[in-house]
Amino acid sequence: MKNIFLIGMMCSGKSTIGELLSKKLSMSVIDIDYDLEQLMDMSITTIFNEYGEKRFRLIESTYFRECSKNDDFIFSTGGGIVLDSNNQNILQTRGISFFLDCNTTILIDRLNKQNQARPLYKNDEDVISLYNNRRNLYKRCSHHIIDTNALTKQEIVIKIEKLYNENN
Ligand code: S3P
Repeated sequence: MKNIFLIGMMCSGKSTIGELLSKKLSMSVIDIDYDLEQLMDMSITTIFNEYGEKRFRLIESTYFRECSKNDDFIFSTGGGIVLDSNNQNILQTRGISFFLDCNTTILIDRLNKQNQARPLYKNDEDVISLYNNRRNLYKRCSHHIIDTNALTKQEIVIKIEKLYNENN
């Protein structure tokens, strides 16, 4: 069975959908950001502050590369996973990748409601420019684009399950 990669912007639902899919498909989930926080015993924000974004990307990519050697996992990735060319290759070849696409109004609304700090979110314009800069990358790295704007979590899970079963 192939891996499932969930990619997209911060707050696009990757971790939540990953957990729900994990239960539905009886596959284990690897949440890259969560694992890095546990392994380094630091929040993502602290890793950014202590080491800078460049080092964070290196750590993130190294961990992702190792984990992606496995099969049958669901991966909830960090929003910036697509920035590295080796990661792009992994997303295209080591499983089936789903871009959870969501408009910036919804993303900003969710970010404002969360009290979890995000190092790359200082103001609403950051989300809009990150989205505009990355949208094509997410599309290029994914096999399927899931327009989540009007879907419930359950509908997103059903859609991914169907596409996965058709492609696996
Ligand atoms: C980032 C997204 C975050 C986290 C880090 C950088 C990004 O993950 O990896 O703050 O570059 O978009 P989430 O997408 O899970 O918020």
